[in-house]
Amino acid sequence: MNGKEIIDVIYGMNTGGKEKMFFLKTLTIDLLDKEDVWDDIDNLREFFNKQLIVHFRNEGIMINIMERELALTTEEKGILSEILAEHAVIIKEYEELNKFIEKYKNNPQDRHIRESVIDAAHKIFGLLPPHAAKEDKYLYPLAKEKLSDKHLKELEEKIAGYKFENK
Ligand SMILES: [Fe+2]
Repeated sequence: MNGKEIIDVIYGMNTGGKEKMFFLKTLTIDLLDKEDVWDDIDNLREFFNKQLIVHFRNEGIMINIMERELALTTEEKGILSEILAEHAVIIKEYEELNKFIEKYKNNPQDRHIRESVIDAAHKIFGLLPPHAAKEDKYLYPLAKEKLSDKHLKELEEKIAGYKFENK
């Protein structure tokens, strides 16, 4: 890998993530209509655990390097910390969703719990697209424009242990 390719690798996960968003959508619909929703729930968990969490981590590493090394404007700094804060919110909402899913597993007939699962999935489904759009608009162009070869090498080394898992 050379130069800015590493940014594309991280970004590729961003667009891949958007494609996988349908899991959240199908989950919310299937819980209402389908008898067996556990395949959808497993898919959703796999997407979060194997891809999204690692993706957030990689973006976090990139943002840390940007904050440390680049002469950023106040506005740019603000956007980067917003993005990090949004990652934390999305992960927290996912943990909430997981809690409701566990409850649902034990009480599949409970209408109230089922509605809580749907609400929690909806919440994440609402958070992800504007978050990804913000990154597309600000984070990735800024990273591509300003990170030097030295920064990119550091970034690549730091995420190296994860890049195969990402594919
Ligand atoms: Fe992100």
